Amino acid sequence: MTAQPKVIVTRRLPAAVESALRERFDVELAARDRPTGPDDLQRALAQGDGVLSTVTDKLTAEVLAAYPLRARIIANFGVGYDNIDVLAAQAHEIVVTNTPDVLTDCTSDLAMTLILMTMRRAGEGERELRGGRWTGWRPTHMVGSRVTGKTLGLVGMGRIARAVARRAHHGFGMRVLCYDPAAPSPVELAALGTEPRATLEEVLAEADVVSLHCPSTPATRGLMNEQRLAQMRPGSYLVNTARGDIVDDDALTAALAGGHLAGAGLDVFRGEPNIDARYMKLDNVVLLPHLGSATRETREAMGFRAIENLAAFFEGRPIPDRVA
Ligand code: DGY
Repeated sequence: MTAQPKVIVTRRLPAAVESALRERFDVELAARDRPTGPDDLQRALAQGDGVLSTVTDKLTAEVLAAYPLRARIIANFGVGYDNIDVLAAQAHEIVVTNTPDVLTDCTSDLAMTLILMTMRRAGEGERELRGGRWTGWRPTHMVGSRVTGKTLGLVGMGRIARAVARRAHHGFGMRVLCYDPAAPSPVELAALGTEPRATLEEVLAEADVVSLHCPSTPATRGLMNEQRLAQMRPGSYLVNTARGDIVDDDALTAALAGGHLAGAGLDVFRGEPNIDARYMKLDNVVLLPHLGSATRETREAMGFRAIENLAAFFEGRPIPDRVA
């Protein structure tokens, strides 16, 4: 009998996923549910044939220079893989996979949640009520912005943005614009009720609410800086369910405090879980703790997708979600 490949898992996973891992691999499950530091990541790379990592594991070039190196695959639990230095992984001949598709619906639902919460001031309202400060219904109380019929600008037009477009246009009657140099075909955009724009600036200038859906790359880090936020319409809203470092926090907190933007909804943060303290003081921001894919169905599906990537690799089959 050939030995099963050894797979080291860095975080606790849904129970059904952990038990499937036990059946298929010689698995070392995470004993503690904390981000894995560089030393433990290097130990995992040195002792496992595969590592099942998550978006909180920083697999930098230094970490990937682990010696001796046994791991031949890193199966990341997440669609984003900016936590992995993919070029360094390639240089060490380590395959990298992600878990696309299975989180598209839930992450786009969460983007809609933030659009609705910010424009309708839901976070602010809940805080007022829980704080015992609600004095009762009145015509001028906590008046937000109508969502139906407003213009949504999507930055990036991948799977999640397309699912947001479908919901916003067909569900909320929104006019939807997008900017993506690799946008889907005109036929697909038409089916989503979405009009492409040639530049990001055009989307920013026209949209009542801008939702970010691009990956974190050297080209997108700091994309929403002072200049671009200034190009957004006065009184508009920004929503981010992609990655925190796409937004310049100095510029966004200034735009929110100064009133140029009416509000923002953020599910992701630079340096999370440490949040820029200025956001905490702003009432016009909805802050969520990176919940985009956090449903039972999706987290299980992400785990099974990572397992399928590992199994395909070790069985010599085509790897479904290989990104490097
Ligand atoms: C991802 O998959 O990239 C999310 O940010 C974590 O669900």
